[in-house]
Amino acid sequence: MALLQIRHYPDPLLKQPAAPIEHFDEQLRQLAEDMAETMYAAPGVGLAAPQVGVALRLAVIDCAAKDEPPALLVLVNPQIVTSEGESCEEEGCLSVPGFYAKVDRSSRVRVRFQDLDGSPKLIEAEGLTAIACQHEIDHLDGVLFVDHLSPLKRSLFRKKWQKLQERQQEVM
Ligand code: NI
Repeated sequence: MALLQIRHYPDPLLKQPAAPIEHFDEQLRQLAEDMAETMYAAPGVGLAAPQVGVALRLAVIDCAAKDEPPALLVLVNPQIVTSEGESCEEEGCLSVPGFYAKVDRSSRVRVRFQDLDGSPKLIEAEGLTAIACQHEIDHLDGVLFVDHLSPLKRSLFRKKWQKLQERQQEVM
């Protein structure tokens, strides 16, 4: 197991659609394990392969509460098949550390995906897990949560992000 380096906005890989996974081998299993370890260490509730520099359609999610046992979801080639309801919750992203904003999403989704053996699966998710599924599948399409913001909020984000970067450089 190894901790992977998380890429930050505006890394170009985060804007790039990821390729479908065709080989269900040991390498894929290792990547999923390392991504889960990296997500738990961050800590975060979701991580997509492009965020660790791998342009493949793989994501890990765990939205279990702190007092609940881990509930790791490994999604290979996930696709939203149906979505319903509305939700608007504050989101953050390990690739955009320090910035949070409310994003309009569906409140319930059904997601078709494959497991690490390539077997087809279907889950019905709601609440935080539904939001995480949409957020992580967006990553596989090169979309960040800040891309969903209104033009005004996005320009506020850019200004805030620039300030955060400048502050970080002063510290370094
Ligand atoms: Ni994210």
